[in-house]
Amino acid sequence: MKPSNLLSLLAPSASLAQTLDLSTLNWTLSSPTYQNITVPGSVPSQVHLDLYREGVIPDPYFGLGDFELRWVTYGNWTYETALEGLLKAGGLLILQIPTRDRDSSSGLSTWLLFNGLDTFTSIELCGQHVASTNNQFRQYYFDVSSFLSSCSGTPSLSINFGSAVNITADIAAEPGQETWPFGVEGLFEFPNRQFVRKEQSDFGWDWGPAFSPAGIWQPAYVVQLPSEGIYVRNTLLDIYRQGQLNNLPPDQSAPWVVNASLDLLGTVSNTAQMNIEILDMSNTTVASGSLENVSAVGSTITGSIVVDGETCQLWWPNGLGPQNLYYFKITVVDGGKTLASVTKRSGFRTIVLNMTPISEAQLAQGIASGNNWHFEINGKEFYAKGSNFIPPDAFWPRVTETKMKQLFQSVVDGNQNMLRVWASGAYSPDFLYDIADEMGVLLWSEFEFGDALYPVNAEFLDNVREEANYNVRRVNHHPSLALWAGGNELENLELPEAEAADPGNPKWRDEYEQLFLDVLLPAVYGNTKSISYIPSSTTNGYLELDFSLPIPMIQRYNNETPGSIYGDTDHYDYDSSVAFNLSSYPVGRFANEFGYHSMPSLQTWEQAVVPEDLHFNSSTIVLRNHHYPAGGPFTSNFRNSSLGMGEMTIAAETYYPTPHHSDSIANFSAWCHTTQIFQADFYRSQITYYRRGSGLPERQLGSLYWQLEDIWQAPTWAGIEYDGRWKVLHYVAKDIYQPLIIASYWNYTTGDLTAYVTSDLWTPATGTATLAWYDYNGTLISPAQNVGFEVGGLNTTLVWQGNTNELGYDLTNAIMKMNITATGTPPNTDTPKTFRHEYIFHTLSLRDANLQDPGLTLAYNNSTGNFTVQATKGVAAWVWLDMPAGTLGNFAENAFWLLPGDGPREVGVTVKSDTSGGKWVEGVTVGSLWDNTLE
Ligand SMILES: *[C@@H]1O[C@H](CO)[C@@H](O)[C@H](O)[C@H]1NC(C)=O
Ligand SMILES: *[C@@H]1O[C@H](CO)[C@@H](O)[C@H](O)[C@H]1NC(C)=O
Ligand SMILES: *[C@@H]1O[C@H](CO)[C@@H](O)[C@H](O)[C@H]1NC(C)=O
Ligand SMILES: *[C@@H]1O[C@H](CO)[C@@H](O)[C@H](O)[C@H]1NC(C)=O
Ligand SMILES: *[C@@H]1O[C@H](CO)[C@@H](O)[C@H](O)[C@H]1NC(C)=O
Ligand SMILES: *[C@@H]1O[C@H](CO)[C@@H](O)[C@H](O)[C@H]1NC(C)=O
Repeated sequence: MKPSNLLSLLAPSASLAQTLDLSTLNWTLSSPTYQNITVPGSVPSQVHLDLYREGVIPDPYFGLGDFELRWVTYGNWTYETALEGLLKAGGLLILQIPTRDRDSSSGLSTWLLFNGLDTFTSIELCGQHVASTNNQFRQYYFDVSSFLSSCSGTPSLSINFGSAVNITADIAAEPGQETWPFGVEGLFEFPNRQFVRKEQSDFGWDWGPAFSPAGIWQPAYVVQLPSEGIYVRNTLLDIYRQGQLNNLPPDQSAPWVVNASLDLLGTVSNTAQMNIEILDMSNTTVASGSLENVSAVGSTITGSIVVDGETCQLWWPNGLGPQNLYYFKITVVDGGKTLASVTKRSGFRTIVLNMTPISEAQLAQGIASGNNWHFEINGKEFYAKGSNFIPPDAFWPRVTETKMKQLFQSVVDGNQNMLRVWASGAYSPDFLYDIADEMGVLLWSEFEFGDALYPVNAEFLDNVREEANYNVRRVNHHPSLALWAGGNELENLELPEAEAADPGNPKWRDEYEQLFLDVLLPAVYGNTKSISYIPSSTTNGYLELDFSLPIPMIQRYNNETPGSIYGDTDHYDYDSSVAFNLSSYPVGRFANEFGYHSMPSLQTWEQAVVPEDLHFNSSTIVLRNHHYPAGGPFTSNFRNSSLGMGEMTIAAETYYPTPHHSDSIANFSAWCHTTQIFQADFYRSQITYYRRGSGLPERQLGSLYWQLEDIWQAPTWAGIEYDGRWKVLHYVAKDIYQPLIIASYWNYTTGDLTAYVTSDLWTPATGTATLAWYDYNGTLISPAQNVGFEVGGLNTTLVWQGNTNELGYDLTNAIMKMNITATGTPPNTDTPKTFRHEYIFHTLSLRDANLQDPGLTLAYNNSTGNFTVQATKGVAAWVWLDMPAGTLGNFAENAFWLLPGDGPREVGVTVKSDTSGGKWVEGVTVGSLWDNTLE
C-alpha cells in the first residue's frame, strides 16, 4: 500500500479535514441476484461498465444490447471494499496520515461523503446498516464515527444497489399511489420513471437506449475531522449587480455583489469569519477583503462583499466578446486558525431571461404586443444560436473531458452560443460547465423532469428540494449558467394533456404548481439572485412577477390576448409534405426545440452492428429506432420501431432522388446520407425563418434545435454522431448560424419569393447582395442583380422579391444563387470585419430538378493541408466530402452547392483524432446528390 497515493491532505495542519478518495481502493462487484458473478469493481463507475471491462458482458452499445442486457438491469448489485486507509490508533480509527499528530485524534469524527449514488442503495459499514438512498442527484453524507468505534479489523464498506426498474414498479403499485391519465407519461421502454429521482432517459427515450445503470457514479470519500474541524462539501458563489432580482434586468451601473455560502461537514462557531481574494488568470489579486454579514447557520456559513465594477472585466458568450474569468478564493478563519479554504473559477456577467411586458417603446418599433421572451447578457439583447444537449452517453462515468472538449469545440466552430441542457438527463458535472465557461457556451440548465407529471407527496417533494438546492448551489458560480427551467415540455404538453383527459379537475395544475413553482422556484430564488427561472422549457411566461408574494411568479398559461405573442415554441411535424411550408412553423419569441430525425453515417453504423445488418430495414437497425407511435411502444411488445424508419424514407423520397446503387453497402450509405440531407434542409428552413423573425413583429431572438449530439449510434435528431462525427446538419447549422446571412423565403402556394438579409450583430452592417439565376448546366440565364443594403443590429432587411410564376423560368431547370458581401463590426470589438454568405434557392423537390453530372474533382494540397473541390461540368447540389472511418475530423465547410463558374473551392480540415497514421487523406471522397441517380 502506498499511502501517498491513497490519501490527500487538504492542508498541512492537524486542525484540518483529511480525506480518503474511495476511487483509490480495490472494489469488488457482485450480485445477490446472480451469484455466479463476482468481478473487480471501480469508483466512479456503473455495473454495466465494470461487467463489460471484465468481459462478463459484450459492449452494451453493440447490436441489440439495449434489449439483451435487461437481466443486468433487473438484478441487484453490490459494491464492496475494505477501507484500507483507516488504521486503528489509540483505540480509534484514523486516517493513516504520516504527519498526523496522533495525540490530536481525540474528538475525531469520520464521515462518508458520496457525490452521487445511482440510485436505490442500502449502505453498510462493518456489517451495520448506515443508510438507504433513493436519489441519483443528491450528495449524501453520513457521520459514521459510531459505526467505526464498534468495528473490528479493517472496516468493510458495502453498498447494495437495488434494481431501479423493479423498485419503481413496486412504488407505482403501492396502494393509493398517484396515477395520471393515459399518455401523460412519455413512455419509451421501462415505465414508472416519474417515481424515481434518476436520469429519466435511463428508462429509454426516443433517441436512446434503456440500460437503467447502477453504481457509485460520482466521486466518494471518507472525510475525517478533528473536533473543531470543518470540510467544505459544496460551495455557492453568487455574483450579481447590487439590487438585482431574479428574472429582471438589473442596473448595469450598480456595483457587483459577491455572495459566498459554504456547506460544511462539521459545524462552525458563530465567531468564524470569511475572507475573499479575487485573482485574475495570471494570479494577480484584483480585490480582497473580509466578507460582511457573515452568518453561520447549522452547517452553512455565508457572507458577501461589494466589488467595484470598474476593476472587473466582463465575461461574454462565444462571438459576443471575451470569456474573462477570475479565481475566487474563500477562506474560513476562526481565532487566528484557518479552518477551510476553497477556490472557484468564475466570472462577472449578468444573464437574464427577460419576460417583461412589451413596452410602449417596443410597440412603437413595430414589435407585437404581449411579452418579451429573450436573453440579455450584461444588459444587451442578443440572438441565441444553438441546440439541445442530451446525455452524451448512457453511462456518465465514461464521459471524458477530452470528448467533451471536442464536442464543445464543435459547438463553437458551429457558431453556437447557447445549449439547452435538456431536463431528463443528469445535472451536468462541473467539468462540463468549466469547458463552457472557457469556450463561451451559455448553458440553459434544467431540473431533471420531463414529459411526465410527477408525484407530490411530502417525501417526494422533500427529496426534490434537497436535490435542487444541492445542484443550484453547486453550479451557480459558472458564468456559462444561463437559466434554470423546471422541466421539459410540461406547460405545453403534459399538463394540457392531463387537463384535456380530465376536464375541469383543478388537481393537475395544482400539483404541477406544487412541484414547479412551490418547490423548484424557491430553490433558485432562495440561493441565487443572478439566475432566472421558468417552470417549463416551453412556456407563455408569467402573468405577474411580484416579489412581495410568497411565490413571486404567477403563470400566464393560456391567458392570452389574441394577436399578442408571449412565449417560446417547440415544433415537431412528422408530416414531411409540409416541411418547407413556412405557414406550418410556429410564430413565437424564441424556438427552444424543433427537429426531425435522420440516420447516422455508415462509418458510425459499422461501430454498432454486424456487416450483415448494414441495410436500411435490417431488424437491428429498425429496433435501434425508438421513435415510437404516440402512446408508447407497448402495443407490439417494445418492438414497433418502423414508424420512424417510414417517416425518414418518405421525406427522402419526397424531396430528393433516392439511391438505387447495386452495391448494397454503398446503397445503404447513400440512403443514410439522404435522410441527413432532408434533416439539415428542414432545420435550415426553420432556422432562417426564426432568425428573420428578429426583425419582424414577433421579435424572435433565439433558435435552439433538437439536438446537438448523440447518446449512441442510432437514427436520431442529432447533428453530431456518437463519436463526434458531424452529420450534414451540423455543417448546415454552422453555415446558417453565421452572423450575417441571406436566405430565400418561398410561398410555393402563391409563388411569392423573397430574399432577406438577417444580422445578429449589434450595430448596422452594409453590403451588397448579388442574385442570379442559373440552369443546372451552370449557365447564367439572367443578368445578375446587385442590391446594396443596410441591415440593422439584430434585424432583417428585404433585398429582393418576385413571384416564381411570373419569372418565366421552369424551376425544374433553374436555381437562384444569392450571396452577400458585407461589412459590420462584431460585438465588443472596434474592428470592422467582412462577412460573406451564399444561399441557393431551388424548386421544392430536387427529385424534379434537372440534375446532371457535375464532374466533381477533388485534390489535396500537401502544403496548405486543404482540399480543393471543383464542379467541372454542371451544378453540384449538396457537395459532400466524406471522412473515412477511424478518423475524427471536420471540414471547414461541407454540404454546399458548387457551380462550374465558382472555380475551385478550397476546403480546410481539422483532424481531432486519427487511427490511420495519416492515411485518411487518401480515404476522403467527394460526392453530390447527383450520385443518387447512379446505379
Ligand atoms: C489493490 O490490489 C492490488 C493488486 O492486488 C494491490 O497491489 C494493491 O495494493 C491494492 N490496493 C489497496 C489499496 O488495497
Ligand atoms: C450468470 O447467470 C446469469 C443468469 O442466469 C446468466 O445470464 C449469465 O450469463 C451468467 N454469467 C456468468 C458470467 O456466468
Ligand atoms: C426484477 O424483476 C424481474 C422481472 O420481473 C425479475 O425477473 C427479477 O428477478 C427482479 N429482480 C429482483 C432483484 O428482484
Ligand atoms: C434488492 O434490493 C432491494 C432494495 O435494496 C431490496 O429490497 C431487495 O430485497 C433486494 N433483493 C435481492 C434479491 O437482493
Ligand atoms: C495560478 O495559481 C495556481 C494555483 O497556485 C497555479 O496552479 C497556476 O498555475 C497559476 N497560474 C499562473 C498563470 O501563474
Ligand atoms: C402563403 O400563401 C397562402 C395563400 O395565400 C397563405 O394562406 C399563407 O399564409 C402564405 N404563407 C406565408 C408563410 O406567408
